Amino acid sequence: MRIEVKELKKDICFQNQKISILKDVNMSFESGQIVTIVGESGSGKSTLLNIMSLLDDCTSGEYRWDDKDIFSLKKSEKQEFLAKYAGVVFQQYNLINNMTCYENVKVPLYLNRNVKCSERQGIVENMLESVGLSHRKDHFPKTLSGGEQQRAAIARALVNDPKVIFADEPTGNVDSENEKQILNLFRKISDRGKIVVIVTHSEVVKGFSDKVYRISDGVIRMETA
Ligand SMILES: Nc1ncnc2c1ncn2[C@@H]1O[C@H](COP(=O)(O)OP(=O)(O)OP(=O)(O)O)[C@@H](O)[C@H]1O
Ligand SMILES: [Mg+2]
Repeated sequence: MRIEVKELKKDICFQNQKISILKDVNMSFESGQIVTIVGESGSGKSTLLNIMSLLDDCTSGEYRWDDKDIFSLKKSEKQEFLAKYAGVVFQQYNLINNMTCYENVKVPLYLNRNVKCSERQGIVENMLESVGLSHRKDHFPKTLSGGEQQRAAIARALVNDPKVIFADEPTGNVDSENEKQILNLFRKISDRGKIVVIVTHSEVVKGFSDKVYRISDGVIRMETA
């Protein structure tokens, strides 16, 4: 699979002034790649990731997954597409507070018609084990540490075995041992032909990836391929 972003722009109107948050962004990702996007705070990383994961609109540009023109999909089709093929790890985790860690990770499976009810528990338990959270499965988010919440958010993004993972600072809150574990998990996934797109400040994550883009004030350029 190949994902292409072409001439993507995002302008917003703030206090009667136009601000260009993303300026002609061009990128491409291939199956099996871990791609990182690095850049200073406020450079537009989360905005870009939110547009690619169809949670925000852009002003103009093209977005293709193979031959599929994603921006031309209807709203309902976009939601279905997102639920089926993409996993998103949010910068602020966005876990549901009144659900346990286990229940949070299970949520995407309710939207997946290919997984039987009887299979859900085993899938969630395996997922929790792979992010080292089996012992915290019955905890609610507020009784998890920041790093544990982050790992729960990663488990939730991966539980449906998506083709593409968009992760916003997925190791921003964990120690170096857990960072390594998360990266190894992402590598296993990319080795199975998936695409992992990571926004990060971490040099370790950057060093681990196959392709690096740097974004600065909404302008993106390829750093290494
Ligand atoms: N709705 C909005 N109204 C006004 N400004 C916005 C809006 N959305 C984003 N911005 C601005 O766009 C810029 C990019 O924001 P974004 O969240 O994408 O940055 P980021 O690179 O993810 O930063 P960080 O590393 O701190 O998470 C920021 O300067 C932000 O203030
Ligand atoms: Mg951000």
